[in-house]
Amino acid sequence: MTKISVLDAGAGSGILACAFLERVENLPFVEEIEVTCYENDENVLQLLEDNLRYCQQQSAKKISFSIVKENYILSQYLDFNCMIGGNPNPKKDDFVIGNPPYMKIPKAPESTAMPEVCYGAPNLYFIFASMGLFNLRDEGQMVYIIPRSWTSGAYFRRFREYFLTQGKIEHIHLFVSRNKVFDKEDVLQETIIIKVRKTVNVPQSVTITSSKSNNDFGDLTSLIVPYNLVVSGKDYYVYLVTNEEEVQVLERLYKFDKTLPDIGVKMKTGLTVDFRNRDILRNTEEEGAIPLFYSQHIKQGRVQFPIQREHEYMVTDQKGLMQENRNYLFVKRFTAKEEHRRLQCGVYLAKNYPQYTKISTQNKINFIDGLLCEMSECLVYGLYVLFNSTLYDEYYRILNGSTQVNSTEINAMPVPDLESIQEMGRKLMKSKDFSENNCNLILEGYCG
Ligand SMILES: C[S@@+](CC[C@H](N)C(=O)[O-])C[C@H]1O[C@@H](n2cnc3c(N)ncnc32)[C@H](O)[C@@H]1O
Repeated sequence: MTKISVLDAGAGSGILACAFLERVENLPFVEEIEVTCYENDENVLQLLEDNLRYCQQQSAKKISFSIVKENYILSQYLDFNCMIGGNPNPKKDDFVIGNPPYMKIPKAPESTAMPEVCYGAPNLYFIFASMGLFNLRDEGQMVYIIPRSWTSGAYFRRFREYFLTQGKIEHIHLFVSRNKVFDKEDVLQETIIIKVRKTVNVPQSVTITSSKSNNDFGDLTSLIVPYNLVVSGKDYYVYLVTNEEEVQVLERLYKFDKTLPDIGVKMKTGLTVDFRNRDILRNTEEEGAIPLFYSQHIKQGRVQFPIQREHEYMVTDQKGLMQENRNYLFVKRFTAKEEHRRLQCGVYLAKNYPQYTKISTQNKINFIDGLLCEMSECLVYGLYVLFNSTLYDEYYRILNGSTQVNSTEINAMPVPDLESIQEMGRKLMKSKDFSENNCNLILEGYCG
């Protein structure tokens, strides 16, 4: 190859384009480089041009560049959607690089420009990544600095499907500690770097590197992981494993081939948003009141009620805010970053509260319920074994970097068959030891 082209959309001052030029400067087979930068912030355009010109002057290669001052998405969405008025032969580049803008855009025109990849509240960064892949030629390479949030979660499902069908991840770099990627900025998003090839061929493996300190890459650890372990399932989740132990967690869990809905149960999110329903909340019991369960009621694997918490009763006739008083596994939806476990659950048995036919759950807890009929006690206890084990907690951390437990992800996670889970529940009931350690011991027998 003698001539190559590179696209940097949202180029800012051009730091990435300049780094790219520096990188290829020493590649003897590259003679000519064509750089395209999109940038629509007038304040940085002069600096961008100055920087590119500087690189051009310093280089021994033939470098040409163009700065497109248009909106990267809105200037091309007709092409992306193959719509009338679009360019049927859009330009494709050999390389795409980028550090796209991160911004939730619920109402911006970009949010409706690419329906194929958007659902719910889109973020500009994955719209840029989709357009970037679109602008890449087949077998071309794309390197993107990107938040990790797209790797799981329902809002990113369509993006993942597009991105990982058209492209395949070859390398992921993780910054293991949060908020330290950019020293001077308070970047709340966890950031990763991905290298993606535009191809339909699934590679054997993905290289995952991680660095603990922020920006010098000095302490790199490297891992080669089978592709199908990293990108998995019909939801195209991306599992960001950082060491062999985490690879083993996935390997052990992938031996199970059922999901919660397959065995007839499902995780749902609590029904009542308390602050929107203040008028129906009560601090004490009264005629017709039902219990409203919060995460504070989940204690050491059990559900305790009442605990003299404010607003732990409610009086309502709204059907959507009530559920049958039957057996559930309650799982906290939010935990603090420093807490030992992401998955924290409590067994709720209807027989402990015979005075109620209905109950309610605050929307900051999740609950697992039978789809067609009530769960037996041994099933609830068996699910407890899974949700209180170290294996499942680690699995969930690998899948989702946030502190929120998301029902869609839990309902897609691999679990043993119904009979095995019930058997685990019977073992737990017999031992009367609800500890994480005991759950690990029980689960161990089913991991093969
Ligand atoms: C996160 S900054 C990255 C800048 C540079 N690539 C870097 O790594 O330092 C994203 C850049 O995208 C630009 N940008 C935002 N929306 C854009 C759009 N719709 N079209 C083109 N550029 C856009 C912003 O002005 C900003 O300079």
